[in-house]
Amino acid sequence: MKCTAAKGAAESTVKTFYIETFGCQMNAHDSEKVVGTLLNQGYSQVPTPDEAELVFYNTCSIRDKAEQKVFHRLDQFKKNGKGKTFAVLGCVAQQEGERIFEKAPHVSLVCGSASYNKLPELLVQLETGNRRVTGLSLDTDLTFETPVTRRDNPHRAYITIIEGCDKSCAYCVVPFTRGPERSRTSASVIAEASELARAGYSEIQLLGQNVNSYRDPSPAGWDFAKLLDQVGRVDGIRRVRFTTSHPRDFVKEIIDAIDANPALCNHVHLPAQSGSSRVLDSMQRLYTREQYMTRIAWMKAAKRPIAISTDIIVGFPGETEADFEATLELIDEVEYDSIFSFKYSRRPNTVALRLNDQIPEEEKSRRLTILQEKQRAIQVRRNAAYVGTVEECLVEGFNQATGQWIGRTSQNKTLNFLRRGEEDLRGLYVEARVTRAGPNSLAGECVN
Ligand code: 5AD
Ligand code: SF4
Repeated sequence: MKCTAAKGAAESTVKTFYIETFGCQMNAHDSEKVVGTLLNQGYSQVPTPDEAELVFYNTCSIRDKAEQKVFHRLDQFKKNGKGKTFAVLGCVAQQEGERIFEKAPHVSLVCGSASYNKLPELLVQLETGNRRVTGLSLDTDLTFETPVTRRDNPHRAYITIIEGCDKSCAYCVVPFTRGPERSRTSASVIAEASELARAGYSEIQLLGQNVNSYRDPSPAGWDFAKLLDQVGRVDGIRRVRFTTSHPRDFVKEIIDAIDANPALCNHVHLPAQSGSSRVLDSMQRLYTREQYMTRIAWMKAAKRPIAISTDIIVGFPGETEADFEATLELIDEVEYDSIFSFKYSRRPNTVALRLNDQIPEEEKSRRLTILQEKQRAIQVRRNAAYVGTVEECLVEGFNQATGQWIGRTSQNKTLNFLRRGEEDLRGLYVEARVTRAGPNSLAGECVN
């Protein structure tokens, strides 16, 4: 698939590109911006790497396994990648820098997320014959603002409100790969939300490594709670979500805003990481279990039932059986709606690398299994309580195999439901009665 287009006076070839994204929603959204930028530059997107001249991997390095994925992908093209240009973007790019050229000599472009605003320039360098090009600077004030974002979901749109992270959690590579915190002005966030509403999006997800530490750099000086509330008041926006939060910066005003504004979804993702204050201290998380539980108490006292999810790391260096038990107790006490749980993974540059008493891999696996089984039972119990209730769903798709529509509730639960008739419900808000519940989803039937 190749065509030619006139670019200025000279004829040039329109190149095809393929992009694969690993990792978190921040990366997914970055890829949407990269795709928009590439299309705007005249490149055309293809669905497989085989068809592409330019192959982009937007990478994640949060855990070792994620990092290895990109090198596996690149290895596949060591022999048969002739004629293609390979680019590594994102966190592995930032972390490994020019070392990537040694590990994978067929890579030509290495670019971290803080340098994506230079991507058009870097692409020109590639086109003009440069064999190795890098964008690795972290000292940029500019967030990657682009008017040409190509969004993957037709109803829900991401908006980045803050980039980078100023915390220094002992296990985490993010402050090294995404650099220091930079907040966007409230005016530019509201303008983007309004534009998205005009384009037909009804759900907004505010993104940042730590959205709670958002600080409007303009004289308006909004904090996160104010920004959240105001995005929820944009005409046409029916749902607002946010991720991710840090307990230290999570203030009561956020719950007050959710209470006061029905457009703000009743779901909060609040990573605990551990239920042991001793481990939290050595993780440098800046809160105790008690302080974390105060935030949970605010949520449990909210007017609408707020679904709560979290991230847990098992097997952090020095985590004793008693510490792990404390995490299991935390899970029982909070009764989370869902949990993302991980085995601790050693990451370059991090403080935890130097800690003694690393936990053996088998022990980490044992703890992870116990935790996941416990959480599964909690989810079965919690979801069963929804049977008989009527929930508003944003319809996201249709499952041909089961004949069910796929909806999402404000609490971020998947509700698969049946409805008579031929009408295409995608993008609509409908009410569905829950008739069955499993650990990971609800099922029911439409009542309107
Ligand atoms: N090992 C395991 N899990 C990690 N996370 C971050 N760094 C690591 C690591 N080195 C988890 C945390 C974080 C989530 C996004 O990934 O739980 O909240
Ligand atoms: Fe990593 Fe901690 Fe920053 Fe989250 S708050 S990105 S876990 S350093």
